[in-house]
Amino acid sequence: MTQVQIRDPAARSRLLTALYIVQEQYGYLTPEAIERVAERLGLSTTEVYSMASFYSLYRTEKTGRYVLQVCDGLSCHLVGGAERLVDYLSQRLGISPGETTPDGLFTLETVQCLASCGTSPAIRVNDALYENMTAEKMDELLETLRGYHV
Ligand code: FES
Repeated sequence: MTQVQIRDPAARSRLLTALYIVQEQYGYLTPEAIERVAERLGLSTTEVYSMASFYSLYRTEKTGRYVLQVCDGLSCHLVGGAERLVDYLSQRLGISPGETTPDGLFTLETVQCLASCGTSPAIRVNDALYENMTAEKMDELLETLRGYHV
């Protein structure tokens, strides 16, 4: 989809906030929610979809409870982290990037730069950033997250 610009910074800010709240409530941005947000803010659904698809924070498809976003940007590559972490998580969870575990707990994604280049490799889990990640730290994090659902 072509990026549609919303030039008014206040309108853009209202939209990003509304999308964040909707996603917190439903887990992802459903087509109905996008239409409702567009209607309430006086925007077209194309404008809302365009903003939602531009930012990796927003999801327009159903995902697992925890979305593991592994940074695939240059800095993370240079420290040899991105590929290693993606391979490790794929093997541990039995899924490839873009897939969700059968229990609905984890979705694995790769994204470009998480703005944490100085502490790469980095991953984001939902809203939380984790830096200087290693396989050991990933194991601890997965266990912690699973522990919330026992
Ligand atoms: S390239 Fe990974 S945080 Fe910037």
